[in-house]
Amino acid sequence: MTSTSTTVACALLAIFLLSFQNVWRVVQTWRFLLQGRVMMLKHAQDNPHKAFSLSVPGNRLHILSSNEHWHDINNAHTSQLSPNAASREMFQPKYTFGFDWSAPREHVSLATVRSIRNMTLQIPLFQGRFVEILDQEFQQAMATNPQEEGWTRVALWTVLQRAITRINTLLLFGEDTAHNDEFILRGLNFVNQTTLILESVRLVPFFLAPVVEKLIKGRGHDRQFVFRTLKDLIAEREAYRKTMPESSRTKPRTFLEGVVDYSQDDRTTQQHVDSINSTWVISTLAIPVVVCQLLQDLYTHTEHFEALRKECDVIPLHESSRSQEISDYLGKSPLLEAFAMESWRRNCFQSNTAHRMAMKPFQFSDGYKVPAGEMIEFHQRGIMNDEARYPEPEKFDPSRFLGKNRSLVDTGIEWPFWGVPRYICPGRWHVANVEKLVAVYLMQNFEGKFKSTKSLNFDWRDSLVPNPKMVLLMKPRLKA
Ligand code: HEM
Repeated sequence: MTSTSTTVACALLAIFLLSFQNVWRVVQTWRFLLQGRVMMLKHAQDNPHKAFSLSVPGNRLHILSSNEHWHDINNAHTSQLSPNAASREMFQPKYTFGFDWSAPREHVSLATVRSIRNMTLQIPLFQGRFVEILDQEFQQAMATNPQEEGWTRVALWTVLQRAITRINTLLLFGEDTAHNDEFILRGLNFVNQTTLILESVRLVPFFLAPVVEKLIKGRGHDRQFVFRTLKDLIAEREAYRKTMPESSRTKPRTFLEGVVDYSQDDRTTQQHVDSINSTWVISTLAIPVVVCQLLQDLYTHTEHFEALRKECDVIPLHESSRSQEISDYLGKSPLLEAFAMESWRRNCFQSNTAHRMAMKPFQFSDGYKVPAGEMIEFHQRGIMNDEARYPEPEKFDPSRFLGKNRSLVDTGIEWPFWGVPRYICPGRWHVANVEKLVAVYLMQNFEGKFKSTKSLNFDWRDSLVPNPKMVLLMKPRLKA
């Protein structure tokens, strides 16, 4: 062999090995997309509390699961482990929302968190309005869907997504927007496009991302409509603040008004649009998922149904003058609470919580190292399937939570769904309220059963995603 042919052979071998490595990486990342939940749970069960990592599209994901890891994540400063950078990686705002997130986290979220707290205090006043929305959406579904042997075939996901989007919009933006059909239609198109874009742009080479974005969102009319609506509402509140002396101003009635009122004065309207839009999109995406999975459990673990219905029948849902009492009852319905907790525990719609990106090399207290730029998540599904905490974890058994003084809005490593204490989710009361309210509404007003219980959900990345094709057969409940 001449030296030239040796060089060519070596170069070809190097290219082969490199592309093999790339192909292997692509195979690994696709494996994560389709089987990530199973892979992570198996690892957690075979190697309890041991950190490990997986290739994910465009990055590497480190999965942590011990008490110490939990505290390390909580204690790390945002300049070490950043939730904002992790959300940016997950939501791809440049493509989904048309702007990038560069503002420091503290600046964005103080007014947001305060406004969510204020909004939470008002939930009892809104219960009657939420029930009106449920009435409108489910009656419409009953009137327009096909019949089958005395039952109506309801596309559960579609109805829930619409009803919950309206409830969420009522609390976040107010009555007029929640009843504006064009906003709800375009808003849901925008949210669904957001999900598709954020997934797709992470799967294609970066130079194709703008093309993929364009293919999915078209001319972007839905997004523009949502942003225009928010801009108008924000401008209205800003004008109110400017013209009304502080002593005579009313308390903010919606999340949006709260963000404007509580923010520092140097925030532009566009910055308000950005942060308000993110909160609305994320909550509109997540709440229907947990509600849908609770209903799946309600209609598949039917052995608990009558006891639950008995407990919930006393709640005065249709007496709007007793709105506050609805909240009180929802807060003290022990079987419903325990059933909903068991639904979260078994489904774990997100295997992982507390998403972070390492901004510089990071070392956990057990010595586990994460290079800068890589992702970190805490594996809550491991905790929820830990035999020591939950014997026979596969079994659906609400009694695990009965009489234990536990609730859906608990926090801490034993109930990690809302994240670590330092960044705990301020929206959790709203989520728990909507979830229980919808379940009670359906139990009080309808009979239901699934057309088929096969493939009600599918795995994607670390998530359990409801199958939009599922059909719930429904008929009005005959009351004595
Ligand atoms: C099923 C629904 C939801 C789940 C599972 C969820 C979960 C979480 C988690 C895990 C965190 C991050 C904690 C961490 O990084 O350690 C978080 C933060 C946050 N959530 Fe939620 N959330 C939900 C719904 C909502 C809703 C409805 C709102 C508001 C209306 C909301 C507003 C927020 C905000 C503003 C933060 C950031 C808090 C901060 O950085 O201080 N979330 N949420």
